[in-house]
Amino acid sequence: MALPAWAGDGIDVTRPSVARVYDYYLGGVHHFDADRAMAEKAIADWPDLPLIMRSNRAFLRRAVTYLARAGIRQFLDIGSGIPTSGNVHEIAQNLARESRIVYVDTDPVAVTHSRALLAGNPATAVLAADFTRPGELLTAVRDLALLDPQKPTALLLNALLHFIPDSAQPGEAIATLRDALAPGSYLVISHATHELHPADLTNRHRDLYRSNTASRMTMRGRTQVEAFFTGFDLVKPSFDRVELSIDRAETGIDRVETGIVLSERWHPDEAASPAQAERFPIWVGVGHRP
Ligand SMILES: C[S@@+](CC[C@H](N)C(=O)[O-])C[C@H]1O[C@@H](n2cnc3c(N)ncnc32)[C@H](O)[C@@H]1O
Repeated sequence: MALPAWAGDGIDVTRPSVARVYDYYLGGVHHFDADRAMAEKAIADWPDLPLIMRSNRAFLRRAVTYLARAGIRQFLDIGSGIPTSGNVHEIAQNLARESRIVYVDTDPVAVTHSRALLAGNPATAVLAADFTRPGELLTAVRDLALLDPQKPTALLLNALLHFIPDSAQPGEAIATLRDALAPGSYLVISHATHELHPADLTNRHRDLYRSNTASRMTMRGRTQVEAFFTGFDLVKPSFDRVELSIDRAETGIDRVETGIVLSERWHPDEAASPAQAERFPIWVGVGHRP
């Protein structure tokens, strides 16, 4: 079968890819039958999924806007995905033309399509590199000579870490990346959680990814997500009144804000729905490296 130009060469279209399934949820056009079939199966079980993905994407937009307004001009976006509307370079360069962005992904379609889209944008680059090999990733970023290691950088790990199992040591990888960041840098994380929905639903969802894709999906709790911010000071999420209807004794989720909140509650704008936050099971946070 001849593949479209955006797919590049030699990809396996018979097995769903995390990046292409996500593109489908978001209403993109870069996916194949196997991706669509898996996404439709997941949506039949959990109809909110496309909205949940949009909530994740909206958080990314608000976080990048916040950082650009805070003066950040360099972004390292790992697990950047297939370009869709509201890409990091569009948001950042719209607010500050000189912003530089390095996109990193392991998915060949994400890399090929990002390169094609960014061909005329010299302040951006796209790397095929793996988060779980942070030493190699940092060398490749350094070789590009696009980001100045002496200047603050925003490290974006948005909807990436729930595809990294504990055995791949995500905390260690973050620490390696963190140690390469200049003071004044930031870390942005969004992460799927099992804490807000019945276990049989979240287990089925996780198992669908595990049995159909190459990724071992691992949802995590708020405490585990907070631990990824070791060495960073969490930015206040600016949503003071937390009205979780879920039972704290059951979930262990504290009502006191620490900086890790549900996606709709992090610096909500007029498009966000903080009152409905519990429909969107994504813990998010932004940390500042002193
Ligand atoms: C759900 S998408 C998130 C896209 C984007 N960051 C967002 O939040 O809209 C997850 C991306 O992580 C990528 N990914 C998964 N494992 C990775 C790894 N070990 N290193 C780099 N990227 C990875 C996938 O290919 C996919 O494009």
